[in-house]
Amino acid sequence: MNEAILELDSLVKRFGSRDVLQVERLVFQKGRIHGIIGPSGSGKSTLLRILNLIEKPSAGRVFFHGQDISLNNGRLAVQRRMAMVFQKPVMFNTTVFENVAYGLKVRGLRGPALRDRVRAELKTLGLEQLENQAARTLSGGEAQRVALARVLVTDPEVLFLDEPTSNLDPHNAALIEAMVRSVSRERGFSVVLVTHNIFQARRLTDWLSFLYEGKLIEEGPTPEILANPRDERTAAFVRGDTVY
Ligand SMILES: Nc1ncnc2c1ncn2[C@@H]1O[C@H](COP(=O)(O)OP(=O)(O)O)[C@@H](O)[C@H]1O
Ligand SMILES: [Mg+2]
Repeated sequence: MNEAILELDSLVKRFGSRDVLQVERLVFQKGRIHGIIGPSGSGKSTLLRILNLIEKPSAGRVFFHGQDISLNNGRLAVQRRMAMVFQKPVMFNTTVFENVAYGLKVRGLRGPALRDRVRAELKTLGLEQLENQAARTLSGGEAQRVALARVLVTDPEVLFLDEPTSNLDPHNAALIEAMVRSVSRERGFSVVLVTHNIFQARRLTDWLSFLYEGKLIEEGPTPEILANPRDERTAAFVRGDTVY
């Protein structure tokens, strides 16, 4: 049986007098890689920030495991069970090791347990040689892998990825994609992936929701949405016809 990890209900997000999101209902199932696709400006990043509690909805509710989290009850505790990777990685001004150790330190881990956990995560992302390097001297691809290691090390239940490979070369993009796939399959993370890359959506996601001008136009299993979109706007986007 499916189990919802996150749900949006009657969501509205307004900036000034403009509604940038109006979503009646959107459900994220546990263990899935759920893709959010749509043209630039359709509200994808705003939606992720609302799910991640960085941004408050103007109206409507957000449920995490059935509990209403839009009321801000226990926000920090909920946020610690989530993780976000952005398009442009922001590195703390210290070593790669310390960047990855950070989330564990704030959770109270110290000593050999901390070191072993950090090293294991660096290894899975092919970063073990870079442990002592200053993080701000890394290449874009390396930095994005550190950003991923930094959040994976905390074992989040939900991983939010906002266009995580759009600034990367194909090699690093493939490494990130492989990692996302394996954490989803082997560690059971639920993933919400924002992308405007249809090929990446096809390779990675189980389910696709198509956003257009802040509205959920259609959604379904990825192969179905890509092969038989019902709405002309989705079809145009999937064909790559839309110029944005
Ligand atoms: N902080 C903000 N203040 C005002 N408008 C914003 C803000 N953030 C986003 N927007 C607007 O909301 C709309 C959706 O933006 P965004 O969620 O970034 O779209 P996407 O990620 O799909 O490109 C855009 O029109 C954008 O200009
Ligand atoms: Mg965006």
